[in-house]
Amino acid sequence: MPDPRGGIPKMVIASLQRTILLRIGTSSECVIPGAICLDNHAARLPYPFYRDPYNGSFFNALGDTEVPSDKSWSLVADADFVIFDEKRGREILGEYPSVEYVFEVGPYLHESPVFVPGLNKIFFSELSPTTEQFVVDLNATPPTLSRFTADPPIYVPNGAFFHEGKVWYSTAGSNASVAGGPEQRPGLVTLDPYTLKTTTILDNYFGYAFSDCDDIIVDPVTGYVWFTVPYYSWWLEVSDIAPQLRSATYRFDPKTGSTVVVNDEMRSPNGIALSPDRRHLYISDTGAAGLSAPISLDVPSPGIQGILYNTTGKRTIYKFDLVDDGRAIVNKRPIHYDAIGTVPDGLKVARNGYIVTATGNGLSVLDQYGDMILRVQTNFTANNFIWTDVDDYREVWIVGQGGVARVKWNLQGQRAQ
Ligand SMILES: *[C@@H]1O[C@H](CO)[C@@H](O)[C@H](O)[C@H]1NC(C)=O
Ligand SMILES: *[C@@H]1O[C@H](CO)[C@@H](O)[C@H](O)[C@H]1NC(C)=O
Ligand SMILES: *[C@@H]1O[C@H](CO)[C@@H](O)[C@H](O)[C@H]1NC(C)=O
Repeated sequence: MPDPRGGIPKMVIASLQRTILLRIGTSSECVIPGAICLDNHAARLPYPFYRDPYNGSFFNALGDTEVPSDKSWSLVADADFVIFDEKRGREILGEYPSVEYVFEVGPYLHESPVFVPGLNKIFFSELSPTTEQFVVDLNATPPTLSRFTADPPIYVPNGAFFHEGKVWYSTAGSNASVAGGPEQRPGLVTLDPYTLKTTTILDNYFGYAFSDCDDIIVDPVTGYVWFTVPYYSWWLEVSDIAPQLRSATYRFDPKTGSTVVVNDEMRSPNGIALSPDRRHLYISDTGAAGLSAPISLDVPSPGIQGILYNTTGKRTIYKFDLVDDGRAIVNKRPIHYDAIGTVPDGLKVARNGYIVTATGNGLSVLDQYGDMILRVQTNFTANNFIWTDVDDYREVWIVGQGGVARVKWNLQGQRAQ
């Protein structure tokens, strides 16, 4: 990745055959050095062009599209920012945006990043058979990365949300014999970030184990906890029990203990996010990353494990309207088919209502109607992300397979409260 402050050398720019397809970040051109602006969303590529869905191991990014008659297209692959909407892209990025690789981590999926404002720390997890989680200490200069084990330990948390001083986790791991801890089934667990003490809040649905509690939000007004339940922990081999329940999204009331299904028509409900005005809820279906066959909503394929990627499968963000005093969602409509990345995994809504999702090699920023504004590109698969309060929530940390990166820009996150 080019240094965002250094940009692409002038000689390289001069030697490229320029077309109207894209403009390159220099002071006079696209927003900032290290950025690429796609004119008219690159709606018309010059023939011939071809984007192979796979590169052998997983997927090909937008920049891997072969456009032989426009040599400048090759710059898309290494750009820090790929901008589809220059006016709004400029507003989001501000004057000195940057994306910076900060920590190397293992090749596993990394998830549940959560910022704890009072501690100035980010907790996140690894989707591997472990009870250890990671913590980034932002008080140190430069920030440090270390591991911790909660008490009792949490077996493979996948989603996290900071609410009233506690971290609310949705847990994916399902294991009757966790090393150093009690039996654990997927559900909801709270963590006191100061003492690292945990409390199990929910661990079953009428006696059945949830297959995999993936992502979680807490509605700040009603206190209802919303969480998604796909089959991933089984496929990732962090579950010792085959799925017993259909994939679904639920609402849980911590005051009464009641759990209610709110959507049961997604193959792999995954990211979930609430708009700041609480009018809309977003849920992604990442069925494209799952088991190849049999693909059926009703058959979770007991007995077969492993994650495969299916380019024609579902990888869609759906928008809903929140009704019934914050209890139900209606008017499901797709607003983003995520072919630019892999699948829309981490999903959050910015303070201004824009939608941000972690997918493939970075983050996508869309407006509330699904129009693509820009991509932040990383050199690893981004699984999830979280804003910190730096500069009033203008800093984002991305966690993924092989790396942790920091983004500085002008797009503010919702406050952790
Ligand atoms: C269950 O936990 C044990 C001990 O921590 C671990 O060795 C094993 O891999 C786990 N099994 C599953 C399916 O997660
Ligand atoms: C990929 O997904 C499509 C659409 O859901 C499905 O029709 C097809 O069978 C899947 N391919 C494989 C290899 O499972
Ligand atoms: C990504 O970039 C960082 C920093 O330049 C480098 O240390 C790391 O090895 C790169 N990772 C991959 C997978 O290329």
